Amino acid sequence: MIQKFDERNRNIKVWIDGLLFDRSQAKVSVFDSSVQGGDAVWEGLRVYAGKIFCFNEHINRLIESAKSLDFKMIPSVKYIKEAVFNTLKANGMKDDTHIRLTLTRGVKITSGMNPQLNQSGCTLIVLAEWKSPIFYGRELKLITSSIRRNSPLCLDSKIHHANLLNNILAKIEANNADVDDALMLDLDGFIAETNSCNIFMIKNNTVFTSYPKACLPGITRGVVIHLCELNKIAIKERDISLTEIYNADEVFTTGTMGELTRVVEIDKRKLTNKGSLFNKIQILFKEMTKKQGEKLLF
Ligand SMILES: Cc1ncc(COP(=O)(O)O)c(C=O)c1O
Repeated sequence: MIQKFDERNRNIKVWIDGLLFDRSQAKVSVFDSSVQGGDAVWEGLRVYAGKIFCFNEHINRLIESAKSLDFKMIPSVKYIKEAVFNTLKANGMKDDTHIRLTLTRGVKITSGMNPQLNQSGCTLIVLAEWKSPIFYGRELKLITSSIRRNSPLCLDSKIHHANLLNNILAKIEANNADVDDALMLDLDGFIAETNSCNIFMIKNNTVFTSYPKACLPGITRGVVIHLCELNKIAIKERDISLTEIYNADEVFTTGTMGELTRVVEIDKRKLTNKGSLFNKIQILFKEMTKKQGEKLLF
């Protein structure tokens, strides 16, 4: 599935370091760390009916990721929130919007890997686009990738960084196999997540998801766990093997970009998809997006 160009995004304004630029003029320096080394952190956020869903959780994760990578002069929560509000206001966006929020280590005084070459603080980019959940009305087919998701031994997957090449290589394998996304395993062969989403399976009315050892502890994942607990749906984090997921009753992915999406096939094994617990969780999530979130004041 390839996202299509949305005409509504032709003339959007993009925030870069305190200024709003027309889409065609929205550029970062060739000396920026994101260009030089993929040295940046990011968040994907969604706006529903005049509210930014889980705004604080996303900003906290952005700042924690930046701190872990030892970025200097990280902007304050207040500054980042104002940048997001101003961008949404400039674009008249109050609903059906996805925001790609990127914080780079900033501009270097000369090309090179060393963070000591970054002497003027971070670059903040707010890219807000009209975008409905990308898997809306779809069911996913997956293959297992030969590329492993990072363990903390290599690069802690709790850092939401923009150095996405292992996920991109996994996505290429999915594209070549003509399926939607790739399932990525951890170094022990247990399921980590897909190249873009967290993953859950349901077996005998219990919902399972992988420990957040080699996956991003996704914010949507956290909301699903919370909703299960609130609604007395049995939920467990544990190692999950491929054999278990092939034989699950239901499987679904979670993420801000695509929300909750049913998986129907993994490595050519058709999933039985018996049961209706996934539908119930999906409805609970939809209700939550209507209620929760930080209000836009324009
Ligand atoms: C690799 C990966 N896993 C999972 C997710 C889902 O995270 P969230 O629910 O916070 O959007 C993302 C989202 O960016 C991701 O990049």
